[in-house]
Amino acid sequence: MMPAGRLSDRQVSVLHELGIDLWQLRENERPTASDQSDTMSQAPAAATLGRGAEISNPETARPDGDWETVHNAIRNCTRCALHETRTQAVCGIGNTRAEWLIVGEAPGADEDRQGEPFVGRAGQLLNEMLRAIGLRREQVFIANVLKCRPPNNRDPQPAEIAQCQPYLQRQIELLQPKVILVVGRIAAQTLLQVDKPLGQLRGQTYEYRGVPVVVTYHPAYLLRTSSQKAKAWEDLLLALDVMAKTT
Ligand code: URA
Repeated sequence: MMPAGRLSDRQVSVLHELGIDLWQLRENERPTASDQSDTMSQAPAAATLGRGAEISNPETARPDGDWETVHNAIRNCTRCALHETRTQAVCGIGNTRAEWLIVGEAPGADEDRQGEPFVGRAGQLLNEMLRAIGLRREQVFIANVLKCRPPNNRDPQPAEIAQCQPYLQRQIELLQPKVILVVGRIAAQTLLQVDKPLGQLRGQTYEYRGVPVVVTYHPAYLLRTSSQKAKAWEDLLLALDVMAKTT
């Protein structure tokens, strides 16, 4: 894989096609290896995901079992009221041996209809972001904090997150990814159990049960706010760098 900060011609052309020349950091803006290690050394102590989800209530207990068992449990889940309005639950998709896990917020209308995360416009941008760092969608695993669509795309409620979080926890246990890339404020706050804004969370590395976590902007936000694409690109480079250090 291309070291962080060096772009292949293909990556440059992917970025250009996207109309995101902004993502090509100028030479003097690129994170250097020492910038990255500084960031790593300043990283906060490991965040423990889902303290709130370590709940003894059987309604919210973490499911055991393999992928099929967990995904069947998700498909049939009635833990919260979202099951009444969903078309279908969206378990997650990708390579169950992937080294990369991408975690988003919740299915939107397209995902609810198709049963797959990140298939709408935000999903297309996510695919391009992955392509820019040399990854195809099929090479990663993509999941959301919430498995069912909140009506009218409203923010997930804390109780819905608490009830759904054990599914993501089990998916992480089964996958054992080398890096978790978290997109968007809600997913980042949930995974890291903090309530800081995303702008304060990005740019450093966290840990979830020994797995490095990198946070970046949600692709839907980037579609609206292209001025932040340069920062998202820095985050992707950070994630690449973290991955390079784990292998
Ligand atoms: N936004 C998300 O966070 N997840 C999806 O699956 C789709 C849009």
